[in-house]
Amino acid sequence: MGEETESSVKRENQDVKDEDTVKYYTREEVQNHNMSNDTWLIIHDKVYDITRFMEEHPGGEEVLLEQAGADATESFEDVGHSTDAREMLQQYYVGELHMDDRNKVSKKEVYITTSKDSRSWSSWLIPSLAAVLVGFMYRYYMLEHRSS
Ligand code: HEM
Repeated sequence: MGEETESSVKRENQDVKDEDTVKYYTREEVQNHNMSNDTWLIIHDKVYDITRFMEEHPGGEEVLLEQAGADATESFEDVGHSTDAREMLQQYYVGELHMDDRNKVSKKEVYITTSKDSRSWSSWLIPSLAAVLVGFMYRYYMLEHRSS
């Protein structure tokens, strides 16, 4: 009986999540939830309250406590969590990371743009050098041919 009530409450919470009532939290706000009885995590710009999951985590409570209140995206991905683990996340969703605090993505974009620039620079230089080389080889061949 007790279990049934709990799962229907969970379903209600998920319905609320799908509507336009998404909450945004700053990194600072998430950092305040860094205790074993109040633990939040950021994974892929989403905020999770994992307090009631701590003891159930197959990877142990300690690794989660180390990340408490912080962005655990990298460590979560490093472990190579299963699809089941990713689906479990939904149960603990409380909101989204504030747009102003999603700086990691924009830094990556700048880096990619720079590397693309250098690639386009080499993409015309190498064929040009090859063309010049072929030209010289052709001239050399013609001269050799004429003199013999
Ligand atoms: C709320 C977020 C998380 C959920 C729902 C979750 C869930 C799970 C689940 C279901 C497993 C069993 C294996 C699998 O199905 O992939 C697992 C294993 C593991 N998790 Fe997590 N995890 C979370 C966050 C983290 C974080 C942030 C870390 C690292 C700091 C971590 C470290 C590990 C490790 C090391 C194992 C492997 C345990 C073993 O194979 O012995 N997990 N986790």
